[in-house]
Amino acid sequence: MAATGQSTPAQMRLVLVGPPASGKGTQAAILRTRFSVPQVSTGDMLRAARRDGTALGKEAERYMNAGQLVPDETVIGLVDERLGLADALNGFILDGFPRTVPQAEALNRVLAAHGHELDHVVQIDVPRELLVERATLRRTDKRTGHIYHLKYNPPPPDADLEHRADDREETVIARLNQYDAMTAALLPYYAARNLLRRVDGVGPAEQVTERLLQAINA
Ligand code: AP5
Repeated sequence: MAATGQSTPAQMRLVLVGPPASGKGTQAAILRTRFSVPQVSTGDMLRAARRDGTALGKEAERYMNAGQLVPDETVIGLVDERLGLADALNGFILDGFPRTVPQAEALNRVLAAHGHELDHVVQIDVPRELLVERATLRRTDKRTGHIYHLKYNPPPPDADLEHRADDREETVIARLNQYDAMTAALLPYYAARNLLRRVDGVGPAEQVTERLLQAINA
């Protein structure tokens, strides 16, 4: 199906960009239901590979535990394969990819091969002082993948909770520094193509969703 630039909800091709713990995963999970398109999270895919003990998962683990980016070719291969699956042909919410200009260029090539292009790139802005608290108190339910926060979105008593290895404070700080270095090139890349929108990520998650919807309808 060719891109028209006029997205209907069923054709939403959206990238969420934002620092660690800014709420990309939380918002992607809400928007995937809203638009009936899959959430494609490279972080989740890499964590699944690590849990499964695959060669890719073992390679990725070294980088993830140090708060560094996994090499471009590894994540590009994952996304290329994932976006070729039938459920992503009418759209997707990309969460955590692309993170570098080579990844952004690879995404363009993957989409162009199907006659598609991106509709929107939305950056979620949250001040650094809130991000450390959001990350260190994040817990994920191992069974459902649902993301909770011990202070802002407490889990139910029967949740089977996991604390991400890279959510320790020192690793979060490394990830935040990595993000600042990365966005120095990525955000101007999308701004120059008039695709970039920014939303304030502070406030209740539902309010942030409303801002996101306004930004992509603008
Ligand atoms: P990834 O999993 O993508 O981590 P990230 O980008 O650092 O983002 P997070 O998952 O930490 O946070 P989020 O923005 O999704 O926030 P969330 O919704 O969970 O990547 C992990 C690692 O994998 C990377 O470091 C790298 O090594 C590797 N990797 C992944 N993609 C890669 C790529 N493309 N290239 C190379 N390497 C790659 O929310 C956080 C917390 O805040 C939760 O507890 C949540 O409940 C809470 N919260 C959410 N919204 C709100 C709100 N509005 N108010 C209060 N609390 C909120």
